[in-house]
Amino acid sequence: MIDLHNHLLSGLDDGPKTFSESKIILEKSSKQGINRILATPHRKDVLENQASQSLIDQVELLNQYSIQSELNIEVYVGMENHLDTTLCELAMKGIAFTINYGSYILVEPPYTDNFDDDFYFQLKELQANGLIPLIAHPERMKGFDNNPNLIETLKNHGNLMQITSGSVLGKFGAEVKTFSNELLDLDLVDVIASDTHMSTGKREQDLIDAYECVLFEYGKDRAEKIFKKLPEMLLFGN
Ligand SMILES: [Fe+2]
Repeated sequence: MIDLHNHLLSGLDDGPKTFSESKIILEKSSKQGINRILATPHRKDVLENQASQSLIDQVELLNQYSIQSELNIEVYVGMENHLDTTLCELAMKGIAFTINYGSYILVEPPYTDNFDDDFYFQLKELQANGLIPLIAHPERMKGFDNNPNLIETLKNHGNLMQITSGSVLGKFGAEVKTFSNELLDLDLVDVIASDTHMSTGKREQDLIDAYECVLFEYGKDRAEKIFKKLPEMLLFGN
């Protein structure tokens, strides 16, 4: 399995505080059968702390640790990019990191009740510059208003959707779980990722549990598509 949204790097954002905890997250992920993780610290925090090189260095250190410990898991460079007026320019300059330096970019919509014209403009601007947005956890965001039509429209306009494993598992409440299931029923989910923030507790690695859930409810082809095939395309596609 591939996890395209994970805050396992330490001291960069609201993820783990120590590199030891990062290593525990890596170990737990390995035990769940995950063999590739995209490291996605919040861009805003990384840039404010001038920590882009630290991000790259930590990815390298985790990969070394993985080899030494025979975890059979690889970590790749990415960011969770809040969508704002600066994102497109920063991405084109290579300051905002895309998914493994490719053409796909993990984008976090603004936390607002309703999306304004800027939201749609900024997504289009990314696309006009050759980037394909993977929208992070729409099922948890008020702006989507539990509205599958809005998700479908955005997908029809070339955006992809990533929902969170914890949402499928009910960790963010019944309403989020219901909306997640609705999106899965309508086949509007491209990727499920963990959005792991810590080694234990509610925001720990739980991708395998969501995989089992999707496998049971929607069958093997769908589970493979959402947890393996599409994530692989996003990680290595150009
Ligand atoms: Fe996140």
